[in-house]
Amino acid sequence: MVSRKQKSIGVFDSGIGGLTVVRALMSRLPNENITYFGDTARVPYGNKSAEVVRTYAIEDTQFLISQHVKVIVVACNTASAVAIDALRHHFDIPIIGMINPGAVRATEVTRNGRIGVIGTLATVASQSYQKEILGRNKALSVVSKACPLFVPLAEEGWSEHRISQMVADEYLAPLRKESIDTLILGCTHYPILRTVIQRAVGHDVLLVDSGEAAAGEVAEVLASTGLMNESTALPNYSFFVSDVPQRFRELGTIFLGTPQMRVTKVHIP
Ligand code: DGL
Repeated sequence: MVSRKQKSIGVFDSGIGGLTVVRALMSRLPNENITYFGDTARVPYGNKSAEVVRTYAIEDTQFLISQHVKVIVVACNTASAVAIDALRHHFDIPIIGMINPGAVRATEVTRNGRIGVIGTLATVASQSYQKEILGRNKALSVVSKACPLFVPLAEEGWSEHRISQMVADEYLAPLRKESIDTLILGCTHYPILRTVIQRAVGHDVLLVDSGEAAAGEVAEVLASTGLMNESTALPNYSFFVSDVPQRFRELGTIFLGTPQMRVTKVHIP
């Protein structure tokens, strides 16, 4: 019988990108078991309507709850941006999204009060980062930019490719002109392109990885609810996808840097 503390952290994303958040969780919480669901049959979420993404997010959460997880981490920024309130309304389990932790971190580290946010079309359209940041401090200013081409470039494994650099330079030139000193990587895939993004905005701009910030919040939630796993046994990682497990396995190696992944295909009703 598994105790409540030993249950997994449930993580879901629209597909593979959420593994950057898993990587942050593994490094911040090395004792924790993790159950991941990637909705590879319905990816991408970033250019779908808020209503559709909400429905998907509810179904993804239902699946993770059926796997007996102890908390839910919404690794997908798009789902965090448009569905977090609906999820908290529907489910009685701690739910951690990406927007609040990323926004809080950015407000803490900015020096000149000018913060950039990049994400999918849906995340940027929702203005969720902006609302969260300005809700904390109205004196700050926020400029946002959707960078939809970053997702396929990251999935191609072109993390430092010259084409990725050209795309980053083109997308991020307007943010550079705005003299931002902090940039939120508001999408699961963007940490993969960190090097080209940093070059495009300049080395004096601080990059905030929402996934890393969220891993800190997960640690706080586990500690405050008494759910931290104290077992020192090797953690168990399970991965589920809604389609094409082989591709997930291949890309997972790039995203996670681990050679062996057990990936199971499941049907989400
Ligand atoms: N996971 C999505 C996000 O973080 C990016 C990929 C997609 O559009 O589904 O917003």
